[in-house]
Amino acid sequence: MPISTEEFYSILASRMQASSIREILKIIQSSKVISLAGGMPDPATFPATELKMVTQKVLTENNAQALQYSSTEGLKQLREFLLDYLLPENRKETLENIIICSGSQQGLDLVGKVLLDPGDIVIVELPSYLAALNAFHSYGGETVGIPMDDEGMKMGCLRETLNQLSKDGKKVKFIYTISNFQNPAGVTLSLVRRKELLVIAREFNLFILEDNPYEKIRFEGEAIPSIYSLDEDDRVISLGTFSKILCPGLRMAWIIGNKKIIEKIVIMKQATDLCSPILNQLIVNKYCRNYDLDKNIASNVEIYRQKKDVMLKALNKYFPAEATWTKPEGGFFVFATLPEYIDTDEMFMDSIKAEVAYVSGSPFFANGKGKNTMRLSFCYPSKEDIEEGIRRLGGVIKDRIRK
Ligand SMILES: Cc1ncc(COP(=O)(O)O)c(C=O)c1O
Repeated sequence: MPISTEEFYSILASRMQASSIREILKIIQSSKVISLAGGMPDPATFPATELKMVTQKVLTENNAQALQYSSTEGLKQLREFLLDYLLPENRKETLENIIICSGSQQGLDLVGKVLLDPGDIVIVELPSYLAALNAFHSYGGETVGIPMDDEGMKMGCLRETLNQLSKDGKKVKFIYTISNFQNPAGVTLSLVRRKELLVIAREFNLFILEDNPYEKIRFEGEAIPSIYSLDEDDRVISLGTFSKILCPGLRMAWIIGNKKIIEKIVIMKQATDLCSPILNQLIVNKYCRNYDLDKNIASNVEIYRQKKDVMLKALNKYFPAEATWTKPEGGFFVFATLPEYIDTDEMFMDSIKAEVAYVSGSPFFANGKGKNTMRLSFCYPSKEDIEEGIRRLGGVIKDRIRK
């Protein structure tokens, strides 16, 4: 008799569901459907020729190191590069404040592993990055959402919620925020709110986990200091990644923060994968030292800015007047809100019939709301496909608008 797997799963594993985004991507990969669903970078932004040369050099010069195990903390030279690149000259951080990890997704997982016990609360934005919610849930963390407006998380609601949770005897461990061009909402946390967030975190004695993969993909407006850079009490843990500024295939990312937290993360990462691939660390390090990363980013930003413009223009042209959407100053996503009576989950199969895909919004909402919302990505499809995809989707939505 074949073994029945269900009875063997841990309680936490039985609760975890397949990501609807991944399932959707599987359906549409080999079809004519225009996908506005996935958040993959445009391959035109990958410096493939340079990476090929760098890889060859790394393997020629130092294959004994490149193909070996390495330290859990990550390649010293790459960590030094990152500290110099990301932080001001008079910085307080040392190599003990930074660890290389395999994608910031692993960073989310490791922070969950270090900080969460089953039943602990993580405060998240409404909506928030689905795979982060899953990472926290996989350690038994419970996510409580705070609504956002154009300036990000609403601080009044945050304070109210924290007071209520404290009255209910709940243990809140950290506040998770995607501070720039949020996934999925495209919203950026304003400077005033970043400062307020730090005050609140201090008042309630909480960590802040700042996930910042899109910071450098800014199309317009002034860059805002990261919450990490404004923190004076060592309570912000910062996640960054090469996925959106170089390429995601190498799975290279970093965590910077409190030495003691990094020390624990190192211990926990040993149980996860011993170390991130040293070959990839050497490749990224050599790339960053031999080429101009900022120049590459600047040309990529231009590609994404043009795609964002095409999407916003097409939304104006093809979406019904009843719909609204965010106007991101950077990043990969627009978030659209339809009239309350339209359920984007239920509309999904009609849109596949019309050969266009999006991600319905509700899985991003920790409170199960957002049924009338959708995430639209402009990062991967061509400009022509963005225009055509929004035209098709506009038609599907218009068919559901009540007269
Ligand atoms: C907000 C956010 N965090 C983390 C990740 C994971 O990125 P990676 O693991 O490629 O570094 C993503 C990817 O889309 C993201 O949007």
